[in-house]
Amino acid sequence: RTVYVNGEYLPETEAKVSIFDRGFLMADAVYEVTSVLDGKLIDFEGHAVRLKRSLDELQMAEPCSKDELLEIHRKLVELNGITEGLVYLQVTRGSDGDRDFVFPSADTKPTLVLFTQNKPGLADNPAAKKGAKIISIEDIRWGRRDIKTVQLLYPSMGKMMAKAAGCDDAWMIEDGYVTEGTSNNAYIVKNGKIITRPLSNDILHGITRKAVLRMAAEAQMEVEERLFTIDEAKEADEAFTTSASAFVMPVVEIDGVALGDGTPGPIATRLREIYLDESL
Ligand code: PDD
Repeated sequence: RTVYVNGEYLPETEAKVSIFDRGFLMADAVYEVTSVLDGKLIDFEGHAVRLKRSLDELQMAEPCSKDELLEIHRKLVELNGITEGLVYLQVTRGSDGDRDFVFPSADTKPTLVLFTQNKPGLADNPAAKKGAKIISIEDIRWGRRDIKTVQLLYPSMGKMMAKAAGCDDAWMIEDGYVTEGTSNNAYIVKNGKIITRPLSNDILHGITRKAVLRMAAEAQMEVEERLFTIDEAKEADEAFTTSASAFVMPVVEIDGVALGDGTPGPIATRLREIYLDESL
């Protein structure tokens, strides 16, 4: 793979970042994941706008302009021959060569790293035909989940807990209400109505969420943005998640309780089709 580090395109084995980098020492970093379908970036603009917001919220400098970011994304997709896959981008606050809780001076150069992940079959994913089985776990993350930081240890542990339980993923619960999935936004469907948590600091403002809610409205589907409990989710007709890496993923089981007939529901299936049709 050819990767990008601070202005240079390099073989992945030659890419280097300082051991004092605050991304490494303090998870002082933000990221974006943009999907690639048919060699084209999906919703780059949305990801670039959210990246800027994450940087602003953490008073982190922009590493380069949006146009330059787009150019780097495109070049990596081309250099690595990606038809279906992902582009991962990370910006860290960089380092002034030591470990300190206090931020380094404002003129410290941020670290910018990008790499691609080749994922043939991303659109035609067999997992989406089966649907995902999920478990629920307590949401013990910090209170600014709207900022896309690389503090992913708990979501990563959540995924491991799901695997240990023979499931695919976990939904996180706060005060009885579902916040979101480990790496996706969460939805249930009851009597034809799509229900999802409203945007706040409690969840990531998903780029796929925004696109899918627009598509649902255009397809005359009813959408309600409100909190829903895990108990309500278990009684739903269907459920699904959205993310840049899995698009729309039907959920067929929550904590061992099958939803509907235990297969992907019609609304989730339809939304996945619409999303892929529009993207391809
Ligand atoms: N995750 N919620 C969380 C906690 C996420 O990590 C993600 C994305 C989403 C969905 O956001 P979007 O639709 O913009 O991808 C929601 C990415 C894909 C990841 O960590 O790999």
